[in-house]
Amino acid sequence: MSVSFEKHGDIAVALVDRPPVNAIDSVVRAGLLSATSRAASDPAVNALVIACRGRTFMSGADLSELGSIIPPPSYADVLHALESCAKPVITAMHGTILGGGLEVAMACHYRCATRTARFGMPEITLGILPGAGGTQRLPRLIGVENALDMLLSGAPVDGARALELGLIDEFVPDDVVDGGIAFARRLLEKNARPRLTRSKPAPSALTDSMIATGLARHARGLKGRTTQNLVIEALRAARQLSFDEGLALESQLSAESLESTESRALRHVFFAERDCGRAPVANGAPVRGVDVNRAAVVGAGTMGSGIAMALADAGIHVALIERDRPALDRGLNIIRDNYASAVQRGRIDEAAARDRQALIEGSLALEAARDTDLVIEAVFEDLELKRSVLGKIDSTTRPETIVASNTSSLSLTSLASATKNPDRVVGLHFFSPANVMRLLEVVRGEHTSDATVATAQALARKLRKVGVLVGDGFGFVGNRMMLDGYFREVELMLLQGVTPERIDSVMENFGFAMGPNRVNDMAGIDVGTRVRAELTRRESRPSPYHVVSDALTALGHVGQKSGRGIYRYQSGERAALPNPELPLLTRALAEKHGVAPRDVSDQEIEHRCVLSLINVGAQILDEGLANRAADIDVVWTAGYGFPRWRGGPMFYADTSGLAGVLRRIEELASTGGGNYWHVAPLLRRLASGGGTFAAWDRSRGS
Ligand SMILES: NC(=O)c1ccc[n+]([C@@H]2O[C@H](COP(=O)([O-])OP(=O)(O)OC[C@H]3O[C@@H](n4cnc5c(N)ncnc54)[C@H](O)[C@@H]3O)[C@@H](O)[C@H]2O)c1
Repeated sequence: MSVSFEKHGDIAVALVDRPPVNAIDSVVRAGLLSATSRAASDPAVNALVIACRGRTFMSGADLSELGSIIPPPSYADVLHALESCAKPVITAMHGTILGGGLEVAMACHYRCATRTARFGMPEITLGILPGAGGTQRLPRLIGVENALDMLLSGAPVDGARALELGLIDEFVPDDVVDGGIAFARRLLEKNARPRLTRSKPAPSALTDSMIATGLARHARGLKGRTTQNLVIEALRAARQLSFDEGLALESQLSAESLESTESRALRHVFFAERDCGRAPVANGAPVRGVDVNRAAVVGAGTMGSGIAMALADAGIHVALIERDRPALDRGLNIIRDNYASAVQRGRIDEAAARDRQALIEGSLALEAARDTDLVIEAVFEDLELKRSVLGKIDSTTRPETIVASNTSSLSLTSLASATKNPDRVVGLHFFSPANVMRLLEVVRGEHTSDATVATAQALARKLRKVGVLVGDGFGFVGNRMMLDGYFREVELMLLQGVTPERIDSVMENFGFAMGPNRVNDMAGIDVGTRVRAELTRRESRPSPYHVVSDALTALGHVGQKSGRGIYRYQSGERAALPNPELPLLTRALAEKHGVAPRDVSDQEIEHRCVLSLINVGAQILDEGLANRAADIDVVWTAGYGFPRWRGGPMFYADTSGLAGVLRRIEELASTGGGNYWHVAPLLRRLASGGGTFAAWDRSRGS
């Protein structure tokens, strides 16, 4: 029984119990419907309270029903029954009330919640429009401008804001059932009648200036997107049409949104992220990892201090170990400054900053790593240094401690061979800044055990990151695709005389937050040069390979931090200005490497950048360095700025049609230059057989 019905005097309580998060599926809907009709028909009942057991009120719709025929009873029937009940229906809420959960609450007559509850309409993040009256009831409750803001942002508001907006009527103590009953009693004492949201006056008109303000406020998340147009249309209807006509229009627009490529792409990434953290399976059962509660980080530089913060943010105790006092103080200062600025920007409060900082203890001795569940080394990228540090960690720690390296370019297998227990060694490739970036590549070396991988993936979840399992190859997955595909093409185009401004603007129009040349300048061109030097020592690449970046590094023109790189910067400013020296440099390099100038259209720029990603992605799948095409999509959307609403490079290839992708790659191989456009065999196989990467993933059971 997922929805129980009990009576407390003349007040009935429908208690939803559908772990883990009380998502609304057909069982919950049927339970709500039956509770409503029991309350309505029982003469001894004067009001109905709806509440949930567990950690949250109904968190939202059951997403596995999305995009298929929704089993009965329908949302419309359930919400209609709740709203038209002749006795007051009250929701008593706690936790995170999102989407469908909030739509249920808005159809009820009164709403109370704990102070810590949060409320949101996140549908836009999946490219869909709410379909259970959200766009018609929300503006009637909180006004059209506030409704627009909530629907465009997708982010939840806290309890205080919900009270201020009129989304809830009052706060109740943490025991929501008791609180809800007490609230219902007070209402009955006042002779309160059902208060129908649908009967509230239509909201005021949605003006052009409200729309412009709303779109501007959320411009970053909405760039390239279309769902917001449906939101606006539905909100306009809330004023212009009757409530029932508005519901009908919403339902039609919502169905339309589900069909859109944008929504399919966003849902693909959502489910791909959810599934990529799955533990390895052995003998038919998922392998269980260790829950990491105490960790050590060796090296307190840029990465080590960020990793320590990421761990502390998840409540993990960290010993931060350095080789000398000044280096340790530098690292601890970075951490202190970062937390101070998070407080200043209102991201966390002072108490939280203090608590997190207190979890990080500096040390100059490896001994501090002795009693930990996990040690992550983040010392300089130097094979011999890392091998020696890992060997010492191996002999200092307990045998069950997981030993991780944050290397970005070295072979994990050769690092692990410096230890006596290579099965417990794994790569944890964090991205900079490590406490902010969501992507974590979990690198499996030749001897890494399933249990070690399971621990790393459980850690990723604990850190609220997406942990993607990758093989121990050149650049793992993300950097391999960037260096052998995307950025290599960008460099070749620079040699062919295309301006960085044009390349960046084409790729920003495609949907990347920042064009590749601006990214390179911002990250520091020297950083990439160092990584490539290591990687090409491991595995060579035909020339010209990133020769523009190498030359700029040699000149010390390494980007924003030096005032000059691919672009020019005024001191302390981030705006990228044209760099008159660049064409001279690229022309000289083009001559040296025998690259002829070439007219490149905007479309060709886009094709060369995106198709090279797809092709290298397919090679990676062929080589078994990623398990699923969907994992590659997660890497590129979570870590490299590929537009989420295009679903990642492999999903984008599927939606573009693999036959066309193959044809264009073959054209580029014959005309675009570069001697590396070898079509990935998997791409050729799928394209010629009418397949897709998604179907390939499914066929492999992943
Ligand atoms: N910077 C990035 O964007 C980035 C991204 C991903 C991975 N990485 C990798 O992370 C690692 C660290 O990079 P970083 O940018 O933080 O370097 P960094 O130079 O900022 O920091 C390295 C730190 O290691 C310390 N160290 C050196 N030897 C040590 C020892 N024996 N014991 C304890 N501490 C020691 C140094 O004092 C220094 O503080 C490298 O392997 C790098 O490839 C870097």
